[in-house]
Amino acid sequence: MHKILVATVKPFAPLAVKGIQKEIKDAGNQMILLEKYTDRAQLLKAVSDVEAMIVRSDKIDAEVLDAAKKLKIVVRAGAGFDTIDLNHAKSKGVVVENTPGQNANAVAELVFGLLVYMVRNFYNGKSGTELKGKRLGLLAFGNVARNVARIAKGFGMQVSAYDEFCPAVNIEAAGVKACKDQKELFKTSDVVSLHIPATAETINSINYQLVNLMPENGILVNAARTEIINEPELLKLLSDRPDLRYLTDLKPKAVAEFEKFGDRFFSTPKKMGAQTAEANVNAGVAAAKQINAFLKDGSVKFQVNK
Ligand code: 3PG
Repeated sequence: MHKILVATVKPFAPLAVKGIQKEIKDAGNQMILLEKYTDRAQLLKAVSDVEAMIVRSDKIDAEVLDAAKKLKIVVRAGAGFDTIDLNHAKSKGVVVENTPGQNANAVAELVFGLLVYMVRNFYNGKSGTELKGKRLGLLAFGNVARNVARIAKGFGMQVSAYDEFCPAVNIEAAGVKACKDQKELFKTSDVVSLHIPATAETINSINYQLVNLMPENGILVNAARTEIINEPELLKLLSDRPDLRYLTDLKPKAVAEFEKFGDRFFSTPKKMGAQTAEANVNAGVAAAKQINAFLKDGSVKFQVNK
């Protein structure tokens, strides 16, 4: 029997925890649950004797990995693994995996929740605008962006995308116009929705110059990561261009500065793109299955630190 820790500061929906528990138990393993921990010491203690762990955006750095003496695998129940020290894990022989696509629809639906809320003036009764006919540009074309594209077509939006790693032919095959670069995407989109991960190349990459290419009344949507935004430059741009608006599911570090722009800015109080029962069940159960498969026959299909 292997011990598998589920460590989540932001807990899964109860239904997902049940699903994960069943999956782990049915494979003859044992689940240890550490939810809503407030103190790092709780995590350091909990990891000390487990062979596997399931996390969300929990920070799994060298200190945690060093404290986890028996750890063989960490599965991030979700897409982004920027919170895990991949190299340190690799140096210790710990496999890191994610569960790509499992929570993508939830994030995509939230993009539209944010957009409708803003273009209808936060439901204050004043006449707003519609999404139909507007041009939506997707920066990157992974699982979330593909779901955003599907929903956008239902709204009657014109969708285009640019992805450094996805050839234009694959974007076009999904019925989406492929842009030749980021600049073209920003220039030709009334709404730009960001779906890039936080990497050394993308951190701070959403800057004044790029967003300033947007046409009049442009809306920037960020349901990806805080770090990709160059906050001082975006603040300056919002001040220079009173027509632009910014919507985000990632509360800016300088949120008070952004709030000065009134109804041209909105942030959810807490990141909640993937906070649905369905996404939690999908990602959590997938993570448990991946761990069971790894412990049973060494399967590393979703490894991200090869
Ligand atoms: C992801 O990378 O999967 C999403 O950003 C969701 O993250 P969360 O599990 O912290 O909500």
